[in-house]
Amino acid sequence: MPLLEKVKITDIGAEGKAIARVDNQVIFVPMLIPGDVVDIQVSKKRKNFMEGTVVRFHEYSSDRIKPRCIHFGTCGGCKWQHLPYHLQLYYKEKQVKDNLTRIGKVEIPVIYPIIGSDDIYMYRNKLEYAFSDRRWLTREEIISDNNFKEDALGFHIPGLFDKVLDIKECHLQPDPSNAIRDAIRRYAHKKYLSFFNLREQSGFLRNLIIRNTSDGKVMVIVVFYLDEKERISGLMNYLSTEFPQISSLLYIVNTKQNDSLADQVPVLFKGEDHLMESIEGLKFRVGPKSFYQTNIKQSIRLYRAAKEFAGLKGSKIVYDLYTGTGTIANYIAGSAKRVIGIEYIEEAVRDAVINSELNGIKNTSFFAGDIKSILNEQFIRENGHPDIIITDPPRAGMHQDVIKQIVLASPGKVIYISCNPSTQARDVALMSNHYKVVKIQPVDMFPHTHHVENVLLLEKITF
Ligand SMILES: C[S@@+](CC[C@H](N)C(=O)[O-])C[C@H]1O[C@@H](n2cnc3c(N)ncnc32)[C@H](O)[C@@H]1O
Repeated sequence: MPLLEKVKITDIGAEGKAIARVDNQVIFVPMLIPGDVVDIQVSKKRKNFMEGTVVRFHEYSSDRIKPRCIHFGTCGGCKWQHLPYHLQLYYKEKQVKDNLTRIGKVEIPVIYPIIGSDDIYMYRNKLEYAFSDRRWLTREEIISDNNFKEDALGFHIPGLFDKVLDIKECHLQPDPSNAIRDAIRRYAHKKYLSFFNLREQSGFLRNLIIRNTSDGKVMVIVVFYLDEKERISGLMNYLSTEFPQISSLLYIVNTKQNDSLADQVPVLFKGEDHLMESIEGLKFRVGPKSFYQTNIKQSIRLYRAAKEFAGLKGSKIVYDLYTGTGTIANYIAGSAKRVIGIEYIEEAVRDAVINSELNGIKNTSFFAGDIKSILNEQFIRENGHPDIIITDPPRAGMHQDVIKQIVLASPGKVIYISCNPSTQARDVALMSNHYKVVKIQPVDMFPHTHHVENVLLLEKITF
């Protein structure tokens, strides 16, 4: 494979990869920013593009700033810490436009400037750590021939599913998140508790989830692989004594091969089995497994944008697809005639119903199940024809059957919220014979990553 010399990075593209053009061919390189001049070792060559890694810097971009985190460059989390925030926003907005134009074949109508996050650190209310006895070792550690403790509590190394980077600091979640993680690691070492080995499926400690609310409540869920009651109680008691601010302390014994907790039952060890969050005076209950937007301040701005696009005046029937704990449904209920939410995690649907009750909301109904099976003609006959559909699918976007059903239901407006502009653009293209994009509002929920959330207003094309 060729070595390309003194190449200037000129752009940032999909997945946040830096882009250069050499002899009219695009080359993608991770971890660089426009303005860097580098030698690139090509690792993949295709007809239309190449991929490579940097082997030598000739010039650093004048835009570069010093990353805050010691794990920058190894951790897969915040890869854009060396890019000033205003440029991060610029490239995120560009990503939305590029995807809509290239994949969605959309002529860009009104695009509002991306809404940036006031907090660019400590903005997350949930972090998930993995325990592993296969710590990611640095090059220096490997060649030093020393014996190192191989246990790690941290984040998976991108692309290496069984290697975990031992996290010493993380700037994403407010205190006491770092302290809890470090205390568990210390306790585990002191008590000789074993860390999980994914390949061999062995070890005691498996995952750690820390969630928090805007008013400082903390939920901790420790996931064990082995059901060893005494050792579980030992760790849980230690946590409860060391961190009295933990308001919900739970554990799960997951003996399955995979880490998914969807089918697992959390055991409450101490405190409450849920957290309470509030948005503009509305209260929301969040169970240990329920989806909840991780950057709460930005999610409020996202919901406001969706509500504004919907232009509700109290007379419309609204479907809220992929409703989670019914946050959007309950948020807009006061301005709608009726809101119908669909979501496949039953626990989240129960929370959605409770959230309506908690707030005295009487015009919502929630249904548990896969949207592609639930949303059919009979469902629409029974629940009323939707005037507006709000849809907020996961990164994979919507199943084709769901898109067909939306088109058949034929609401006047579709508000499409997405955390993945490329699948959103793909879905928009599939609806383009019936709906046109009228307004676009990107929102940044995840500073220092290439991820961007986008709200689209689609209106029915009248012939
Ligand atoms: C991006 S979240 C949106 C949550 C919610 N709108 C909010 O703002 O809190 C996507 C949700 O879709 C749910 N989900 C994913 N695939 C689904 C499917 N096929 N049918 C129903 N719900 C699904 C997930 O459980 C998750 O709660």
